[in-house]
Amino acid sequence: MHISVVGTGYVGLPAGTGLASRGNQVTCIDIDEEKVEKINNGDCPIYEEDLPELLEEMVSQGKLSATTNTAEAVADSDITFLAVGTPMNNDGSINLEYIKQAAEDAAEGIKEKDGYHVFVVKSTVVPTTTEEEIIPILEVVSGKKAGEDFGVCMNPEFLREGTALNDFLEPDRIVIGELDEKSGDTLEKVYSEFDAPIMRTSLKAAELIKYASNSLLATKISFINEIGNLCKELGIDVYEVADGVGMDHRVKRDFLDSGAGFGGSCFPKDVRALASFMEDQGEEPRILEDTISVNEDQKTKLVEQLEDHYPDLSGKKIAVLGLSFKPGTDDIRQSPAIDIISELKELGAQIKAYDPKAIENMKEKHPDVEYTSSYEEALEDTDAGLIVTDWDEFNAIDRGDLQTMNKALLLEGRRMSYDVDEENREGITWP
Ligand code: UGA
Repeated sequence: MHISVVGTGYVGLPAGTGLASRGNQVTCIDIDEEKVEKINNGDCPIYEEDLPELLEEMVSQGKLSATTNTAEAVADSDITFLAVGTPMNNDGSINLEYIKQAAEDAAEGIKEKDGYHVFVVKSTVVPTTTEEEIIPILEVVSGKKAGEDFGVCMNPEFLREGTALNDFLEPDRIVIGELDEKSGDTLEKVYSEFDAPIMRTSLKAAELIKYASNSLLATKISFINEIGNLCKELGIDVYEVADGVGMDHRVKRDFLDSGAGFGGSCFPKDVRALASFMEDQGEEPRILEDTISVNEDQKTKLVEQLEDHYPDLSGKKIAVLGLSFKPGTDDIRQSPAIDIISELKELGAQIKAYDPKAIENMKEKHPDVEYTSSYEEALEDTDAGLIVTDWDEFNAIDRGDLQTMNKALLLEGRRMSYDVDEENREGITWP
């Protein structure tokens, strides 16, 4: 099938590359000319496991190309995925500016087209958006009728940053929200090579499945962090509790890793957007609000813990290890490290920070911090080290590294498995 994908971000590019590898002819569309040129040269513009290799292969085999011309690419394809960002407005609600523009540009492509075309909303949008906001744009701009002249689906994406390609190619399930049967049948063909159960449903149910999934996962994290804070008081290891609870197949152990809270471009934004949407509908989002507020407190708990050791942090040298919101990415959006550094600065601490991938991004948020090129350098001569992201390389921290510190003290915001004496280490929600 000929597929066009609007947006070459963390969803669009892995999806486009993955679909090309499953025998489709794919055109990726982006307004950023530099990105388009990179892709056409076989260079991957984002940091993602296995993606650069597959992208290069697909481009060199002529199965994937990129363009800035949306209308032309849409006209030359059978199906168009809209995979642009849906960021958060200041009030927590969803910003539909980019997806509306993408729909408008894409609809231009089918004005003159004779054959049937299907538009697939892959971006995360709150329930009813596809029906009430996207379809009217597609109809007005194209002058055609949805459900007759063209089809519409809502196909949420559940991939995680860092493992996006693999998650896209091997999903737990594929959810197809459809305007009508023909739209859904066409999209189902695209996934015929995928080994995953396919669920067919309405457009708005598909939209809500995405938000409910992310919100439940975020709630699991805030829940285990709340239990973890109690564990800390009682001298219990929260990981033992999570293991014990997670052995129940109704609960599952996944996403019960307690720590410095969740960050990233999805959970914080999506939980807020769902809460804001619920309020608009006259419903009170009690659990969602608590999920958010537990998380906000959790992000800076490490600093409180540090104050137990140093009631006055002014002039203390603190190493912050890990800046990205999770390992395997250079993305710092909503990363606990941002808040931790802000709070440490306010308290007058001197900060040395290190991350294997995210330093350049953090420099934009916190230009006045000393960044180092290794964790060894960051720890040297400091009064404490805070582990904020569980990059695998931090597991190599050993007693020798601690000897270079003014005081051998590591506070862990993420569970590590390094070989450091217990009296020198302390967990955020474990002893
Ligand atoms: C998340 C979801 O996991 C994906 O299914 C979804 O498709 C994606 O959002 C999205 O909506 O696009 P992502 O934000 O890439 O994916 O990252 P996760 O691996 O889910 O981690 C999110 C945050 O939760 C990280 O800060 C991580 O450290 C934290 N986390 C995760 C925990 O604190 N504990 C856990 O047990 C798991």
